[in-house]
Amino acid sequence: MEKKFVIIRELEPKDISKVLKLLNQCDLCGPSDTIAAYRRKMKSDKDLMLVAMDNKRLVGFVMAHYDGWISMLWHLAVSPSYRRRKVATMLTREILRRLQKKGLKRVYALVETRNGTSMAFFRKQGFITLTKVNCVKFSLD
Ligand SMILES: CC(C)(COP(=O)(O)OP(=O)(O)OC[C@H]1O[C@@H](n2cnc3c(N)ncnc32)[C@H](O)[C@@H]1OP(=O)(O)O)[C@@H](O)C(=O)NCCC(=O)NCCS
Repeated sequence: MEKKFVIIRELEPKDISKVLKLLNQCDLCGPSDTIAAYRRKMKSDKDLMLVAMDNKRLVGFVMAHYDGWISMLWHLAVSPSYRRRKVATMLTREILRRLQKKGLKRVYALVETRNGTSMAFFRKQGFITLTKVNCVKFSLD
């Protein structure tokens, strides 16, 4: 494995705008992705919001939602110029380690069917595809 050139640490308030920029670049930003929402989430879930840093450069992000019952990985993203260097692997391993420490047995991730790269990534990490469920949505707008 390549020598570690990034460190994984918890999100800090000063990182939030850079995270939103990265998520935008990766087409992952939704209506809930605001600075205020991240600040709010940091109050309870800071340990499940991780960034990958190459010195002062933010190059990756992942967070997990955990309500004491189930957990979902969310917004895994790596800067295009840092891909295929195991940054997402490092982020995912660390967040899974933290979730396991909380006693969790299963972790889920939503992946768009057209996102073959992300599916390849999650399979490589040992995630399995659920074939007996559909994901449904209700809009409250
Ligand atoms: C998906 C993503 C996070 C992967 O990040 P990454 O840091 O490049 O991933 P890693 O280097 O840790 O990859 C680990 C393994 O995943 C698989 N993988 C990653 N990218 C792949 C690709 N483009 N094609 C095929 N397999 C891929 C490979 O098995 C890879 O191991 P290998 O390089 O030894 O073959 C990154 O491509 C990304 O940010 N995509 C845009 C945002 C996105 O779609 N996020 C997921 C939302 S569900």
